[in-house]
Amino acid sequence: MTPANILVTGGAGFIGVNFVRYLEANRPDCRITVLDSLTYAGNPQSLAGTRAELVVADIRDQQKVEALLQDREIDTLVHFAAESHVDRSIHGPAAFIETNIIGTMSLLAAARAVWLAGSGRPHRFHHVSTDEVFGTLAPGDPPFCETTPYAPNSPYAASKAGSDHLVRAWHHTYGLEVTTSNCSNNYGPYQFPEKLIPLFLLNALHGKPLPIYGDGQQVRDWLHVEDHCRGIEAVLSQGTVGEIYCIGGGAELANLTVIDTLCAAIDAAFASDPGLATRFPDAPAAHGRPSATLKTHVQDRPGHDRRYAIDCTRARSELGYAAQRDFAQGFAETLAWYLENEPWWRAVMDGSYRDWGERNYRDRS
Ligand code: NAD
Ligand code: TYD
Repeated sequence: MTPANILVTGGAGFIGVNFVRYLEANRPDCRITVLDSLTYAGNPQSLAGTRAELVVADIRDQQKVEALLQDREIDTLVHFAAESHVDRSIHGPAAFIETNIIGTMSLLAAARAVWLAGSGRPHRFHHVSTDEVFGTLAPGDPPFCETTPYAPNSPYAASKAGSDHLVRAWHHTYGLEVTTSNCSNNYGPYQFPEKLIPLFLLNALHGKPLPIYGDGQQVRDWLHVEDHCRGIEAVLSQGTVGEIYCIGGGAELANLTVIDTLCAAIDAAFASDPGLATRFPDAPAAHGRPSATLKTHVQDRPGHDRRYAIDCTRARSELGYAAQRDFAQGFAETLAWYLENEPWWRAVMDGSYRDWGERNYRDRS
């Protein structure tokens, strides 16, 4: 279908913000409302300069969601809101069940009440999920695809698997028009510095250790966030209702390879721009030492999945999807973005983005 009035849940988080920006650049006909409760991962400053309206609310507030769907005449809901960090799910799984499972059910119930009541109206509920629901791969295994059996290993993955099943059930039982995409590890602008790439990048700039879990030979399929957004938009406009689409970056890399790429890129940036040594005097690269000297192997994450990889055949053949950036290019752009957007990540690191959100949004919700 052709979306017109889109509700983006979790639109103040990493991928949601990039999706809003992608839509504004590529689908200027759409009106975008963001629904986000502004957890630690939600940063309204990331939406600065966009035309999206931010409504601060919890996806578990079914009445509020129903009112939004009615009042804004929403025809398309793209569901990103989630607790998304595996390490946090190990230490505090309850929040993952609350948001990822209960929250998704609440959204589905709101969508059903508004979109399927009476004669119904054209609609789409797109659910954004992860390849982690499929479990872990051995080195020679074929990559995950849409028919891979579910085998989630972390509380995060289990909660996302639960949400995927609910979305499927609301389609089969009630006729809600849904699509789901399962993607691999995203990277790019506006990512909260708890995930591997932004955490290591900022640690390297500040001369802090780069904590490598276990032997660092775990493999992920790295997907630039803009390619992911392109894939979701293709599912919205060309995907088949009730179907699942796997979206990957075609860049299977061991963590150590990613980390070595990151360290080498930072060293090269300092070598070509002497101003960086003044801005980041604690970086080894400011003193001609390799960033790789910060690499530190630490205790492995419990239950750490060894390998993820995605086979995008369905998305390619049905939607014409293909990742447009290889990792070298995507990472170089990401490094440049973090170097150019120091105020953004400073506000995240010192917590002031939260005060800004409180002042500008919470009171108005
Ligand atoms: P994120 O943690 O950066 O952002 C999540 C957003 O959801 C935040 O803005 C947060 O405030 C909001 N949120 C959390 N709980 C909420 C609630 N109860 N009500 C309303 N809003 C709430 O996450 P992300 O990396 O942007 O991931 C977005 C989606 O993509 C998630 O569903 C995640 O599972 C999925 N995904 C992410 C990746 C990745 O590499 N980042 C990979 C695969 C799938
Ligand atoms: P992460 O960005 O947390 O994504 P996910 O766990 O969803 O794949 O981690 C990516 C990989 O990097 C994963 O194998 C765990 C590893 N990792 C580290 O080695 N050290 C760290 O400090 C972090 C955050 C991740």
